[in-house]
Amino acid sequence: MKSIRIILQFLKKHLTLTLLAPLCVIIEVTAELVQPKIMSEIVNRGVIGGETDIITALGLKMLIITLVGVCAGVFSIYAAGQVSYAFGADMRTKMFTRIQKFSFSNIDRLQTGSLITRITSDVTQVQNVIQASMRLLFRAPFMFIGAIVMVFMLDLKMAYILIIILPILLFTIIYILKKTFPLFTIVQQKMDKFNTVVQELLSGIRVVKAYVREQGERERFEASNEDYIASSLKVSKLIIIMMPAMSFIMNLGVVGVLWFGEYEVADGRLNVGDIMACTNYMTQILMSLMMAQRVIMSITQAEASMVRINEVLETECELDLQSTGVSVPEEGDLEFNNVSFRYEGSNKDQLSNISFNIKKGETLAILGSTGSGKSTLVNLIPRFYDVTEGSIKIGGKDIREIDRKSLQDSVGIVMQNTVLFSGSIADNMRMGKEDATEEEMIDALKKADIADFVLSLPDGLNHKIEQDATNISGGQRQRISIARTLISEPDILILDDSLSAVDLITESKIRKALNKLKMTKIIIAQRISSIKDANKILMIEDGKMLCYGSHDELYKTSAEYKEVYDSQVQSAEEGKL
Ligand SMILES: Nc1ncnc2c1ncn2[C@@H]1O[C@H](COP(=O)(O)OP(=O)(O)O)[C@@H](O)[C@H]1O
Ligand SMILES: [Mg+2]
Repeated sequence: MKSIRIILQFLKKHLTLTLLAPLCVIIEVTAELVQPKIMSEIVNRGVIGGETDIITALGLKMLIITLVGVCAGVFSIYAAGQVSYAFGADMRTKMFTRIQKFSFSNIDRLQTGSLITRITSDVTQVQNVIQASMRLLFRAPFMFIGAIVMVFMLDLKMAYILIIILPILLFTIIYILKKTFPLFTIVQQKMDKFNTVVQELLSGIRVVKAYVREQGERERFEASNEDYIASSLKVSKLIIIMMPAMSFIMNLGVVGVLWFGEYEVADGRLNVGDIMACTNYMTQILMSLMMAQRVIMSITQAEASMVRINEVLETECELDLQSTGVSVPEEGDLEFNNVSFRYEGSNKDQLSNISFNIKKGETLAILGSTGSGKSTLVNLIPRFYDVTEGSIKIGGKDIREIDRKSLQDSVGIVMQNTVLFSGSIADNMRMGKEDATEEEMIDALKKADIADFVLSLPDGLNHKIEQDATNISGGQRQRISIARTLISEPDILILDDSLSAVDLITESKIRKALNKLKMTKIIIAQRISSIKDANKILMIEDGKMLCYGSHDELYKTSAEYKEVYDSQVQSAEEGKL
């Protein structure tokens, strides 16, 4: 129902074309309905009655009516096309605008792959059905009723045959449709599953190749593909039976008309032309029923798509970019007060009771094993997710009160799985700062120790980065990402394991460059060498604080920290030997 409301709301915007399409359909159908009647007159009066001069006149009339009908038909197709394509474009724009406002937890819930299907094939599905329905929804019933009326007008006795045949036909259609509907839902589910499998296989294709798992994955693909085909075939079988069954019943009716008509004609109560017209009308009735069946089936399919589209349009974006007018305080500490966080749908806190305080310009290092919640913690600072309990403050202001634009401008984060966009290096740098000059870009690249590499490329800053940055190394990608964040000159810089793919010498160069910058820095790293000099070190395990303090303090007081430190220093020394 909601889907229909959305569609109607849209159609209101294209009222003229929406109304013209059915109007033209009615003209088209009227023309088709009149033709058998004229034909019967030509036969009755012209051919049998010998009024030969009437043939040309009636023939001409028929031609003109046909032309009018065809023109009306063409226009209705055009109008339906215009409206439905506009609908598709409008829906896609609306969905895209919505998705751009999605928070991280929205995206967690409606997966990227599923969003792609929704914005492409689901919209196309609905668009096609609107196009077809704008014609068939009017054409089918009008033709059905019109043809019945015409038969009644021809001869009442022949109409009795219809009265017997029609209920049988309708019963058959309803029976088969009832059987197919549940199957449709199954086909839709299998299709969704197939999409998921394909998406997974394609996005992981490199890993699959690396582990030489093509065979296994191929089997998975084929299983899902066959599953989908099997259920589609079941539906097709039922539909395939429906067509000949309906024709058979209708042809029985035609036989009835011919058999019954023979007596009537012999007795002189009926003309041959009327019998011809009657059989024509019966065909039209059959056609209208087939159309109706097609519309009903495609509307149910589109309904499923519309529900999926609605899910996107109606997702509450908890992090709507509303301006609060409060900007990030110039000076002040970054404070975590008893912060706890739980992912939506999870049954356990991922972070619990995290508290610390770092002064402006200081460096905080976060240490912890994989899965301990380091990325989760730093993602709370630019409000990718909101804290579940406690608060995060910058300069004493709760970040939830700060204008989101101002917050995100002042917090620069290089994420763990960082993404470079396909486009030139300069394009990527401009994502950090729209109006960045070439000097600014090179300066930022220098700080990330990647300027020499970029400038050594034949096309320098204009070097194209391919999709997924496949044409540069992991370490180069990390360094360009750091430069992209540095160029925006954030007040708080967060590096989430951003130097993991960089060699030790380069890392120490970058660290030196970063130390000269005045911004507050939060660094997640595995190597103790990158952490040791930080003003404060926070060690977390399983979402809880293990210890917090400077290197010297922790080395003395925390057994866990000492263990990590000693083991790394030791292995480094062994490496030297
Ligand atoms: N988007 C998410 N939705 C639900 N759970 C998540 C999400 N991201 C991470 N997690 C869970 O949170 C835990 C901590 O992850 P993360 O903060 O990435 O750890 P770290 O960065 O320390 O390796 C993991 O157990 C992971 O399963
Ligand atoms: Mg992480």
